[in-house]
Amino acid sequence: MQSAIGDMRMHWREAGDGDPLIFIHGFPFTSELWQPQLDAVPAGWHFIAPDLRGFGESDLGTRSDYTMDVLADDMVALMDHLELDQAVITGLSMGGYVELSLALRHPDRVRALVFTATRANADSEDAKHKRRALAMRVRSMGSQAVIDDMFAKLTSGHTKLKYPQVAEKLQAMMAAARPDALTRALDAMAERKDYQEDLSRISVSTLVVRGEQDEIVSATDMEAIARTVPGARQEVIALTGHVPNLEAPDVYNKILTHYLQMLPPALKLGSMDLSW
Ligand code: MLT
Repeated sequence: MQSAIGDMRMHWREAGDGDPLIFIHGFPFTSELWQPQLDAVPAGWHFIAPDLRGFGESDLGTRSDYTMDVLADDMVALMDHLELDQAVITGLSMGGYVELSLALRHPDRVRALVFTATRANADSEDAKHKRRALAMRVRSMGSQAVIDDMFAKLTSGHTKLKYPQVAEKLQAMMAAARPDALTRALDAMAERKDYQEDLSRISVSTLVVRGEQDEIVSATDMEAIARTVPGARQEVIALTGHVPNLEAPDVYNKILTHYLQMLPPALKLGSMDLSW
């Protein structure tokens, strides 16, 4: 599906019918990252996976700023377009940074949160420096610079050996990424806010999922989210790295489906009888 939304043309994939859940992909991927989840959508759920601004089939739009807040507002604009009051929000890595911005700035639009392979802390000075150096290399080499930087760290040794098609899919998505979107997203990640202090304000049901062998986001950073968001639960997927939903889709889908089944029923304002 695609539509003009705000200043951009946004593309998204969707599957199923029922309560909405929005999947936000990581850097430098596309909505294709969530295809194994869309393929297994449980009954009673409507899964929606947009391409973030500049990635996949969504264009960069006309506004000149590109921040996690802008990307979060794009998700809210998509919800408005689809006439969704609330949705479960799920983000992987950079998608989790967008999810945090959305959850803290638009809490009334969030039914529940699933954080996958992400962190609430901002970049250290060293990490910012590395991102800016990578953005410089993207300007001269294109997406190959990001492949050289990230590819080897994305999946576990087990995934590399047993499921080489996962690495092929990730590499194809990375190779197709537009250099101007890559540099903007790298700058936006370097500039993103530190949300650690705000996590205790989250009041909706929250699940944290991490790959046991993630080489990009540390267990300490993920556990900090699970420890600080009141009542959050954590699941660790064995033998997976930074993209557990692709590396072990059956396990990830089982965890997600079980979590969704346990959620309290959605508040359906339109169907409430307020006539007493
Ligand atoms: C991602 O997967 O979105 C990136 O690894 C996030 C990051 O570099 O911080």
